[in-house]
Amino acid sequence: MPLNPTSLLYAVVPAAGVGKRMGANRPKQYLTLNGRPILSHTLALLLNHPRIHRVIVALGPEDGYFADLEEANHPRLLRVEGGAERADSVRLALAAIPEPEAWALVHDAARPCLSHSDIDKLLAFPGEQGAILAAPVRDTMKRANGEGGIDHTVARERLWHALTPQLFPAQALRDALTRAEQAGAVITDEASAMEREGWHPALVAGRPDNIKITHPDDLRLAQLFLASQEA
Ligand code: C5P
Repeated sequence: MPLNPTSLLYAVVPAAGVGKRMGANRPKQYLTLNGRPILSHTLALLLNHPRIHRVIVALGPEDGYFADLEEANHPRLLRVEGGAERADSVRLALAAIPEPEAWALVHDAARPCLSHSDIDKLLAFPGEQGAILAAPVRDTMKRANGEGGIDHTVARERLWHALTPQLFPAQALRDALTRAEQAGAVITDEASAMEREGWHPALVAGRPDNIKITHPDDLRLAQLFLASQEA
């Protein structure tokens, strides 16, 4: 069933991580960015998109911050408990979608600079195999030898960075994630679960400001991007 103008579209936001690489005193999705928590920016931009029916957020079992967000009691926001890995959190959120024909737009909590124009571009993709936002690799790529040196150069032709959102039929994605989990496969994005099933999702070139906040320096960059989007 292709995505059509009447398909119900759910946004799924895995936000159950602890953000170890950030080295902060709280999970990174709750760090403040331009006066509001990162997760608040992400949820608001999804809730404000006219095509999105509901937003489902997966939270950590010990989450003590979510209830304070401005969006916490939004009528179109659903919360579920996440799992041990990102893929488990996404699978558990998808289980809360009752309509078998719905589509899911999975987006990292830690990417608060996503613009509506990128969502629109993704939703306009042709085909039934799903699609992801992505960026072609610009730099020369090296495979390390594990001892601080270079083993060899990896050809960058046809190499892309996988970003989010990633867009798939909700039921097919849920089944693929379940089978991947049963097989013990390591899944770091939704597309890789679908690739295991023989799907070839479309690559949709996204804007460079849709960064994932991972390290402390990324916060400053995100501040600049948000300010320039508002200007
Ligand atoms: O750590 P990383 O930035 O790769 O996490 C990507 C997203 O997945 C984050 O939004 C994080 O909160 C989420 N996540 C999750 N459940 C986990 C681990 C990560 O929802 N168990």
